[in-house]
Amino acid sequence: MAKVLIKGGHVVDPASGRDGRSDILIDRGKIAAVQPSIPANGAKPLDATGKLVVPGLIDLHTHLREPGREDKETVETGCAAALRGGFTTICAMPNTTPAIDHRGVVDLIHQEGRRCGSVSVRVVGAITRGRLGKELTDFGELFDAGCVALSDDGDAVSDGFLMRRALEYAKVFNRPLIQHAEDPQLAAGGVMHEGLVSTTLGLRGIPSEAESVLVARDIALAELTGGWIHFAHLSSEGSVELIRQAKRRGLRVTCEVTPHHLSLTHEAVGEFDTSAKVNPPLRTEQDRLALIEGLRDGTIDCIATDHAPHTDWEKEADFDSAPFGISGLETALGVCVTTLVEPGLLTWSQLIGKLSMNPVKIVGGDGGTLSVGAAADIAVIDPTATWTVDPKQFISKGRHSPFAGRTLAGVVVKVLRHGVEVGP
Ligand code: DOR
Repeated sequence: MAKVLIKGGHVVDPASGRDGRSDILIDRGKIAAVQPSIPANGAKPLDATGKLVVPGLIDLHTHLREPGREDKETVETGCAAALRGGFTTICAMPNTTPAIDHRGVVDLIHQEGRRCGSVSVRVVGAITRGRLGKELTDFGELFDAGCVALSDDGDAVSDGFLMRRALEYAKVFNRPLIQHAEDPQLAAGGVMHEGLVSTTLGLRGIPSEAESVLVARDIALAELTGGWIHFAHLSSEGSVELIRQAKRRGLRVTCEVTPHHLSLTHEAVGEFDTSAKVNPPLRTEQDRLALIEGLRDGTIDCIATDHAPHTDWEKEADFDSAPFGISGLETALGVCVTTLVEPGLLTWSQLIGKLSMNPVKIVGGDGGTLSVGAAADIAVIDPTATWTVDPKQFISKGRHSPFAGRTLAGVVVKVLRHGVEVGP
């Protein structure tokens, strides 16, 4: 395997504290040296002048739809979309058909991921059988098969007793449970945030409290059990404040937020635009600002896409019937750069912390840093180049995005996995 020398780039690696011009030498898939100037000595040069060189992005929350809904996405199309977005690792969520609730499905996704070969595909198994919220899965089997976490995402585990037992059980394996925090009774029938816009449009709303009551309950259960709870796709100010307090008390609580909740509000639903129909729903400006503040002060650990592709015929239905979810892998970085870095709310180093360094702390494994000895999973980014979002050009089969027509900053120009150029 030839050595590769990335020359002249600006290296941003929060894990090692590096934020400046450096060359990077890659040997046998690993970072061999990071120094201001490294002679080529036969290594294959890759010019990164004027570009940022960052650890490959790691998405904690990707719906790949395989098995069962390959018309929406496959492991292969999802991996290709991930590469275009600068991701070198993605975590497949368990709301497939059948659900990822036994070893056979975990093996299938790992096998497909290896066959595609470009992106590392990790698997999040289900907490309950069939994600039906009634009976726990065999955690030992799922972790033994390589699951990095468990979740019933798409639905909450609403039974408090079952969640208590699940936290106790997962604690034995020192792995997190990812909760889709939404009280099903409070959210029942809702299609968007409950507020002024839902009232004006005559749509049934989902109150913020549908999220925060479950966040509060699960923080209490994490305290009771000593288990590790990770909250997916936070959307409300109340949830951020509860997690801030839980972290102050030293509880094992982590969480993520999506690029769309950081950049949009319920106003984006406009005239019944199903491209803004997501779960949890886009909320108010006050919630959006609280999510950004949570990112800035460390309450929110990670940014995760919640890439949730759907077919055109489903998304183009009336607002009540259309499914929740948007295609997020290809726009995540651009939305974050445009919403957070350009206005000076986060530095590049802080952003890469949320998109790469911190996710690896949740799921473990390769990547997340460019220190010597680490896997050479790398994204090269042109930070000033801009592009206009055209969902028809997405590689993902999901072609719906509330960012259609928006001009975003930050273009991924090269992706390496284990030192090999794989994209975008
Ligand atoms: O918008 C969403 N779509 N939120 C979820 O939690 C599930 C996801 C999906 O699977 O479509």
